[in-house]
Amino acid sequence: MLIEGARKLSGEVEVQGAKNSALPILAATILSGGENVLCNCANISDIDAAVGILRYLGGSVSRHHTTMLVNTDSLCRFDIPHDLMREMRSSIVFLGAVLSRHKRARLSFPGGCELGPRPIDLHLKALRQMGAVINEHHGILDCYAPKGLMGTKISLSFPSVGATENILLAAVNAKGTTTLTNAAREPEIVDLAEYLNKCGAKIYGAGEGIIVVDGVGKLHGTQHTIIPDRIVASTLLSCAAVTGSEILLKGIISQHLSSVISIFEEAGCKVKADKGEISFCAPERLNAVKNIRTMPYPGFPTDAQAPLMSALTVARGTSCFVENIFESRFKHVGELLRLGANIKVEGKVAVVEGVSGLSGALVEAQDLRGAAALITAGLAAEGTTEVTGIKYLERGYDSFETVLSDLGASVRKV
Ligand code: UD1
Repeated sequence: MLIEGARKLSGEVEVQGAKNSALPILAATILSGGENVLCNCANISDIDAAVGILRYLGGSVSRHHTTMLVNTDSLCRFDIPHDLMREMRSSIVFLGAVLSRHKRARLSFPGGCELGPRPIDLHLKALRQMGAVINEHHGILDCYAPKGLMGTKISLSFPSVGATENILLAAVNAKGTTTLTNAAREPEIVDLAEYLNKCGAKIYGAGEGIIVVDGVGKLHGTQHTIIPDRIVASTLLSCAAVTGSEILLKGIISQHLSSVISIFEEAGCKVKADKGEISFCAPERLNAVKNIRTMPYPGFPTDAQAPLMSALTVARGTSCFVENIFESRFKHVGELLRLGANIKVEGKVAVVEGVSGLSGALVEAQDLRGAAALITAGLAAEGTTEVTGIKYLERGYDSFETVLSDLGASVRKV
């Protein structure tokens, strides 16, 4: 991606559908069978990977712009091969759905990823509590539930998003009631539960710390619109903030962005959040933000940390980030230094000393949100910034170069 920076952005932008909602909902179609119509599915490679898995398992999927038609009536396989699993670490969310549907699942261990080790112990412990027998050997997870899955009381030691999703997928068709304590409260969990309830599931309390699921045995297909992507929205706000611009975000749910909005307000931005829109006006130079701690929702999202850090590289004063969710989530820092930023990392803390400007350079993205962060910084940098590793960006951002060009940026994919 080639970016000619130091230009202001202006105009309106419609935010794409949420990747992190679409992925578990695509997995959930395995449970429902019948015809599913999913609207607002972004055109991104992680969704392509999920579609690849559904097709391999025997489902039929077609796409018309952002609408997907999914039918899983003829699903015949319970295994997911290594090459499909490794394309996307979050493919582990297929485990609960496949196991529930076939009483069997065989898939390769997802292993680590760009963000460091990503264990799935919480997923496996919960499924075992529900009656699954899981053998792990040679990197393969072999799972059986000969008598079907059984509802039970589960308490997560950490509110893992993926584990909460897997438990919901396993519980909706289980025998009896599952009570999940310390569940993740992310909006994407609520979206998954809403989809499943439309299909006939009985899930109560999604979005709160305790979720109760009454197993129903059978679901049917439905139509559902994926919620807007709060991380793409946060990235666009970072892009406007770093360039001192005024933009209007449309098609969003502003409550999902509360923790992000309050940080931008602290940085001196004027934010008017209506239900479905945010009008955003950044000052010529941002103020530093003393303390940004990533936390499970409703705290500040780890996925928004990297783009916000780019914005604050040019703020007046010193900002401090504490990354509490993932171990290796500062890979963008080394590349931001090449653009002239002044950042020091010590463990899970990054201290950003604001500089008066950035200058374009060749930089390499190493993960999805890091890629978005480098583009954010490139928008502010004098001269040309060349960002390689764009395949990471394309995992989660639909036509990002067009979205930014429509706002007046000079961004070109070559
Ligand atoms: C999801 C999101 C990701 C986001 C993350 C945190 C999707 C597809 N991805 O990832 O974009 O950054 O939530 O908001 O929705 N953990 C364990 N054992 C487990 C599971 C998790 O130790 O069994 C740890 C992880 O290593 C990590 C933390 O818990 O440190 C959070 O992980 P989790 O909430 O599960 O994130 P994901 O579902 O993988």
